[in-house]
Amino acid sequence: MNFPGQHIISIDQFDRDAVTRVFDVADQMIPYARRQRITRVLEGAILGNMFFEPSTRTRVSFGSAFNLLGGQVRETVGMDSSSLSKGESLHDTAKVLSGYSDIIVMRHPQAGSVAEFAAASRVPVLNGGDGANEHPTQALLDLYTIRSELAGKGRELAGLRIAMVGDLKHGRTVHSLCRLLQLYKNVKLTLIAPDALQMPERLLENAREAGLSVHTTSAMDEGLREVDIVYQTRLQEERFADPEEARRYRGAFRINQSLYNRLCHPDTVLLHPLPRDSRADANELDNDLNDNPNLAIFRQADNGVLVRMALFALVLDIEKDINKHARDLHWYTPQR
Ligand code: CP
Repeated sequence: MNFPGQHIISIDQFDRDAVTRVFDVADQMIPYARRQRITRVLEGAILGNMFFEPSTRTRVSFGSAFNLLGGQVRETVGMDSSSLSKGESLHDTAKVLSGYSDIIVMRHPQAGSVAEFAAASRVPVLNGGDGANEHPTQALLDLYTIRSELAGKGRELAGLRIAMVGDLKHGRTVHSLCRLLQLYKNVKLTLIAPDALQMPERLLENAREAGLSVHTTSAMDEGLREVDIVYQTRLQEERFADPEEARRYRGAFRINQSLYNRLCHPDTVLLHPLPRDSRADANELDNDLNDNPNLAIFRQADNGVLVRMALFALVLDIEKDINKHARDLHWYTPQR
């Protein structure tokens, strides 16, 4: 994969070498993300950060990543604050906004919308999530986190055993992660969901054809045993045509410390792309897990900054110049 100037729309654009390249550059970003060093390599550059669906992590971590490289961020948040709500097309919006920015990140509720936008853009576009379709940068930060958590236990990605739990039909993070795992050897994937919310058939077929061992079940008791990683997901209530149907599944796949003690190996790492639904009737990843050292959800969220800095550096082709524009930092910084 040749990064400079590329749109990042789908995780399928990445091969093993490209993933390794992103992770190597992400590792180089640690002193900057931890505020030990400061770089101004992107001074003068503008990120158009366009989020037409709610977001906390993706929007702010992309923005922070660009700021940490010295660039500035212009945000468009919500459909109502954009002329898309007056009937302007994605094509015209892309033509206009790509004249105002050096690079654009976009999240939109419609599958395929970011690709349509990118086709008309004059600057690189990164997909921050398009409907239930894909979330490629989340998959990269998820795998970066899995690699790092396994390394802490003396393990490698090869031979990974991972269970994905919850709404696998509508969850774009698991769609992209399932595709990304196909690049690795001997991965055992257990998909725990009710039949109606199981991973789309097309993705299951692709995973099996790529050599993954894939097992589907609706039983937590069966699926959570003997795995290295449990990747819990949120019930994507906003993607159901009938809200009543969504409510039927609320709280059906909750994990708490007692379930973890009963079913999981004590080394099992818990991930979630977040947000976790902490309302009492959902409580999908219980607060009683908060002191469990294997709950890696906030390390996972932190890694979003590293991976997104790496993607900006590679796409804007400044990775080799970062240190030239760097200096030590002198204000108080807490331990991260
Ligand atoms: N993981 C993720 O996409 O979170 P946000 O919806 O808060 O961006």
